[in-house]
Amino acid sequence: MKAVEKSAAETRATGGIEVEVRDDLGDDELTRIMDLLRIAYPAVETGIWDWQYGRRSLGTPRVALARADGKIVGVQPSIRQDVLWSGRSATGYQLCHVVTHPEYRRRGIFTKLVSSFAERAEREGAAYVYTFPNRLSFPGFQRTRSWDHPFSLPLWVRLALGSGRSSRATRSLGVPQPVEHFDPAVDVLARETAGRFPAGRVRDHRYLEWRYLEHPERPYVVLALRDGSLWRGVVAGRLVDWLGVRSGAVVEMLGDPSSLDRLLAALEAELARRGARTMGCLMPGGRAESQVLERRGYRVLPAWMLRKEFYFVLRASGGVPPSLRDMSAWWLTWGDNDIV
Ligand SMILES: CC(C)(COP(=O)(O)OP(=O)(O)OC[C@H]1O[C@@H](n2cnc3c(N)ncnc32)[C@H](O)[C@@H]1OP(=O)(O)O)[C@@H](O)C(=O)NCCC(=O)NCCS
Repeated sequence: MKAVEKSAAETRATGGIEVEVRDDLGDDELTRIMDLLRIAYPAVETGIWDWQYGRRSLGTPRVALARADGKIVGVQPSIRQDVLWSGRSATGYQLCHVVTHPEYRRRGIFTKLVSSFAERAEREGAAYVYTFPNRLSFPGFQRTRSWDHPFSLPLWVRLALGSGRSSRATRSLGVPQPVEHFDPAVDVLARETAGRFPAGRVRDHRYLEWRYLEHPERPYVVLALRDGSLWRGVVAGRLVDWLGVRSGAVVEMLGDPSSLDRLLAALEAELARRGARTMGCLMPGGRAESQVLERRGYRVLPAWMLRKEFYFVLRASGGVPPSLRDMSAWWLTWGDNDIV
């Protein structure tokens, strides 16, 4: 594999800590990175890291690395994406699972990892770098002016699960079927959905297959309405633990409102069958998808009831244009946020 040229901005030696951004990681380095991820996220199954980064399903992952004392002491992995930015096709990076080795924390390693990553992406013309930070890393993004927190995503909740019925009008659309494989024809449906939003990740068949069907634990219920080779709609969801209550999470929705109503009814019924007592969905309001949720009895949970806030943070060269500061411009789902 081609060696990466390290410019001064990519490799910084500060207090014995060297930070570099790499696209050409070998198996040995990936294994050491996964060892570090396991320290920070012990509850995450080993297979998840391999699925995310090791198998290179979405290409070799770009990772910012910090080294000190001959070992890797900090990593910022990422997922490279085809995205929309002000309605144009572009490249973006999602930062996931940043970690600094416990013995090397509070020395600015995290801050250097994310800034080195973003500087490199900007130099190469990437539209933006984004992440959904947790409570621990959010303050670090707030400290630096180049990172923006335009909004946090609202959580829609349906407290009482109904009978799983869809409206009479949508029953003629057929019976939702489990998805075994996403073929390229689903890209038409994804493009139609993306066409309504100037920003966000492009969900093509490769992404959907990796994200929901290749996951090592296969926790997702993925349902579709199809008309021959035509994909009319897709939903994905899974069980989560919400404040000790087994709940269903709707993590992906593609399709027109009627198809989504029919699909959500089937998804709710299947998740209820598996033990869900409530349903939730992370979704910006004011769009066809949120209107379907509202009609199905979902309501936005007041901020004070949230156990954690779903921060959305990004850094774009030239800043975030005013038109993209509003969450209504973004195609974002729980599937983007919840990558394990
Ligand atoms: C979150 C995490 C990555 C931060 O890593 P870190 O390398 O310690 O971060 P930094 O050193 O850049 O910043 C941490 C703090 O140290 C301070 N700091 C930075 N350099 C410092 C220095 N030289 N001396 C003293 N303090 C310093 C920062 O100001 C910051 O202060 P704050 O706590 O008031 O915000 C780390 O705690 C971690 O790995 N946590 C577990 C995994 C996790 O939750 N990751 C987030 C997933 S979204």
